[in-house]
This record gives sequence, structure tokens and C-alpha cells, in this order.
Amino acid sequence: MSAEHDQIRAVAWTGAGVRLLDQRRLPQEEIYWTIACVSDVAQAITKMVVRGAPAIGIAAAYGVVLAARARFSEAGSGWKQLLEADLCDLEAARPTAINLAWALARMQAIIQGLPDHRDPESALLVEARCIHEEDIAANRRMGELGTTLIEGSVGVLTHCNTGSLATGGFGTALGVIRHAYGKGRIEKVFADETRPWLQGARLTTWELLRDGIPVVLIADSVAPYLLGQGEVQWVIVGADRIAANGDTANKIGSYGLAVAARYHNVRFMVVAPTSTIDWNLSDGTRIPIEQRPPEEVLTLGGKAIAAVGAEAYNPAFDVIPAHLIDAIVTERGVVRRPTHERMKALFG
Ligand code: MRU
Repeated sequence: MSAEHDQIRAVAWTGAGVRLLDQRRLPQEEIYWTIACVSDVAQAITKMVVRGAPAIGIAAAYGVVLAARARFSEAGSGWKQLLEADLCDLEAARPTAINLAWALARMQAIIQGLPDHRDPESALLVEARCIHEEDIAANRRMGELGTTLIEGSVGVLTHCNTGSLATGGFGTALGVIRHAYGKGRIEKVFADETRPWLQGARLTTWELLRDGIPVVLIADSVAPYLLGQGEVQWVIVGADRIAANGDTANKIGSYGLAVAARYHNVRFMVVAPTSTIDWNLSDGTRIPIEQRPPEEVLTLGGKAIAAVGAEAYNPAFDVIPAHLIDAIVTERGVVRRPTHERMKALFG
């Protein structure tokens, strides 16, 4: 797929601040905000103006640049101490995607190496840009590697939104779909609507159609039936956090898809950069699962859909056990049928 088919950038640095495409408003409205203050970046992450594991890490890295700019002008050589609270706020903005903490740790390492008297903005901006560009390069590499697993010309099903909107650009699972489609390996793309936030219906359909890739939207409850029909050979999803044994946290509904895929002999691919791997967790049981507001379930498009007084349970992610995953694709290689040993063998 040529560069013209990868034009969407949900996160960008403008000099005045970090420019975010407001993902709450798509596909009806394409609105960009330029955010110049770190607390607004943290809010934008919590409220899902920007979302998707790598994208929130990148937005947070630019948020650190904004924080350093403000703290240096406020406190001169005392900037480092004030910055600590900003880093904590950013890290607390969303709990599940490890990419957020990973990007902040990289920024923190640069902060530690800087002298107190020096204006930190330019050095931190170099690192934030690096995190952003490396993510795009990783996505392109994963696009190539994931495509090698796909034989013939197949039907695929994807969940949530894992494209340019969710990353620095190009996408993880959607990056594989983009690349494989360009190589003629994909005949049909199905997208789950991804209740309650509708990332699939609102974002994935918008993004794929913008890039000229036809897409068929299904209600989430259709997926197991569809997988039993023989039209889909691969389910391809992204990840928010992968434990050392390959257990993978991803958008709620991914676990059920993996169970249905295995039952129907459909293969299941997870696509994520190595920044999504949390080597501190031996398995997925301790991955923190974000609980989102009940209103996301009780309403649709701003209108109430449940009887007044109904409660709602709204976990934003679930965990796919590694044994239900056929391949984890990273920019550093592919782990087939992941286990702790196979993950370690690839990454050392
Ligand atoms: O709640 P979201 O929209 O931030 O969740 C996003 C996902 O679950 C994606 O599948 C995941 O971040 C991988 S995308 C690169």
C-alpha cells in the first residue's frame, strides 16, 4: 500500500502544542484541537479524544514536552521537581495500555540526564518525536510480517480500531490489513462495531474507507455466527498490554472472539509493537482492567437506551489467554503459539 493510502494522523506536534483529532466526534465531524497544557493532554486521554494504546503513549510524550516548557518558565532550575506531578497525572490518565507508562519512562530517562539549569524542551521534543516515528516504522514492519502469515486471499475480521487513529500512523492490526490488502491477500474485511464506544463502527469504517478499503460492519453478536460460516480465515486484533507469557489484554470482546475463533478453526493474530509487552507481569491475571462510566452502556449517541434505574457494568478490556492466540506479530518478529519460553526466545 503506497504512502498516499496512509494520510491520517490523529496525533501531531505543531510547536504551539499537540494537535489531536477528536475521536469522540468521528465520523460525523473531523475536529482537531491543539492542546498547549499538560493537564489538558491528560484529560484528552481519559476522555478518549485520543485513544488506542500507542497513540496515548505518543500524546503523553508530547504532553511531557508541554509540561517541561511550562515548568521551566515557572521555576527555572527547579523544573524537574515540579514536573514529577505532571508525569504522575499523565500516567494515571488510563490504566490498561502499558504504552503510556512505557513512553513516560523513556521521557523520564531523558529528564534524568538533563542538567537542572538547561531548558529541557528541545531534548524532550527530540525524544517524543523519536517515539512517534519509531511507532510508525514498527507498524509498517508489522504490516509486512503479519502479511507473510496470510496465505491466499482471505476474509478477515477485526475488532475495535487499531489503525492510524490508534497509533502514530498506519496501525497495528489495521496496518497488517492495509498491507495485506495492498498485496492482494485480503478479499473481505469485516469490522465489529465494538460496543459500547463503537470504535469499529465509527472509526475503523471511517479509516478504511478513507484509504479505499471496503469494509463490512457487523454487530458484535454476529461474530461467532460469521466465524462459523467459513468466510473468515483470520481474526486480527491489536493489544493494550501483553504479559510475558503472551496473555493479551485488548478491547472488551476480544476474549470472546478468540474463543469463537478457536471453536471454528479460524486463526487468531495479535499485532502489537514491543512497547506493548509488560515483562513485569508473568501472565495476564494481574493486568489492570479499566472500568469506564456506566453511561457509555446506558446511552447510545447521547440518548438513553435502558430503563431508568438500570445499572451497567463496563469493563473496557478483557484478556485473551495465550493458548487461544496463533501468532503475536511485533516489529521484532513473530511468536507463534505464544508461551513464556517462546516469547523469551524471540526477545531474549
Ligand atoms: O479504549 P481504546 O479505544 O483506547 O482501546 C483501544 C484498543 O483496545 C486497541 O485494540 C488497542 O489499543 C490496540 S490498537 C493499536
